Amino acid sequence: MSLSLNEQARKILTDNDKGGYTVPTARLYPFQWNWDSVFTGLGFATYDVNRGWEEIETLFSAQWDDGFVPHIVFHKDDPSYYPGASLWSAGNGTLKTSGITQPPVAATVIRRLMETYKSDDSDARAKALMSKVAAWHRWFREVRDPSGEGLVMTVHPWETGRDNNAEWTAPMGNVEVNPSVKLERRDVSMVDASERPHDREYLIYMSLVAEGRALNWDHKAIAEKSSYRVADVGMTMMLLRSERDLLAMAEYFGDEALAAEVSARIKIAEKGVNALWDDELQAYCSKDLLTGKSSGMVTSASMLAPYAGVGSKEQTAALMQHFDRIANKIKYTMPSLDPDHSEYDHKRYWLGPVWLVVNYMVGTGLLEIGEKERGERVHKDTGDLVRDHGFYEAFSCATGQGTGGNHFTWTAAIWLAWAGKELV
Ligand code: DGY
Repeated sequence: MSLSLNEQARKILTDNDKGGYTVPTARLYPFQWNWDSVFTGLGFATYDVNRGWEEIETLFSAQWDDGFVPHIVFHKDDPSYYPGASLWSAGNGTLKTSGITQPPVAATVIRRLMETYKSDDSDARAKALMSKVAAWHRWFREVRDPSGEGLVMTVHPWETGRDNNAEWTAPMGNVEVNPSVKLERRDVSMVDASERPHDREYLIYMSLVAEGRALNWDHKAIAEKSSYRVADVGMTMMLLRSERDLLAMAEYFGDEALAAEVSARIKIAEKGVNALWDDELQAYCSKDLLTGKSSGMVTSASMLAPYAGVGSKEQTAALMQHFDRIANKIKYTMPSLDPDHSEYDHKRYWLGPVWLVVNYMVGTGLLEIGEKERGERVHKDTGDLVRDHGFYEAFSCATGQGTGGNHFTWTAAIWLAWAGKELV
């Protein structure tokens, strides 16, 4: 008898469970990834809340003393991934990690676990994680917000999670390739190269890893010297949303000092995010902090403004116009890049394909601000991708064809937590 989609999704989580943490998918990504794991915690919580908490707790066991939470945790060696632990040469003394971070979605998911999936120990676990998340958010503000406006500066495209989005093409063009870099890519032996970044991008990715390594992953020094410094609209929106959820937790636990600290930061970010508003394009975009230039592109991250709770009436109306223009051009919302952009490619990683985690946040935000029809479209498209094409890493926005890895953990998690459920 064939398995239902819920059963298939649970099986994927079980198969990718390495004991306390999951890998995004076997071989292609054989370690623990930061935002993958947080969303995976949400998926687990739908049927095993203890395992959901554990996923996030394991991630935070890799937190560094300064509050930084790495994008990869190398719990065990595995030669199938490049760049592996030795090329990063980073860690917190106990665990080997990468030296860059990833989108801060933990506070949002922890709050959801605490409120929606209550158990005997959920308050205690949320409270213990709250102080760790608070330290991470503080790190973002102290190390990655140079203008003090509430933006998130990234020093590597991988930090955004949207690795090869066209928003990074111009800033990457200003990075010199380090002659010592020797590419040993493994990804293209597992996934069709047409669905992955190009070698020319990997040369920059690895040159930036070499820069960080040369600075001993001193994050303050990297933030001052990196040859790549970009304010990412996606992380800025996700952090602002996470700050709101952290505030709600601080209030719930009666931590007045933390609530005051977070409230002050939220006020700054609500105003500061306007620095990412591109007046000409009428959308929120990422910005190269070294040249001051807006990317001038609408991406799925631009659509996270409602999720972050920002945007005037006029700004939201302009974003909705972009939403409609884009939604009319493709079959499945929300493509990772505007289909009208010259670099758009419906199959290549973050140049067009749809990612379920982003859809979850975009759809949630739209529904929260009362954009019912658009929110429901995103929800339906997300579910249809899984119903019609399975549990891939990402999906062509034009045809729905699965792209990248298969048997993919966060796709299964979002199916369980959102896409496979009726909207209430
Ligand atoms: C990869 O290796 O493709 C990852 O996305 C980097 O985090």
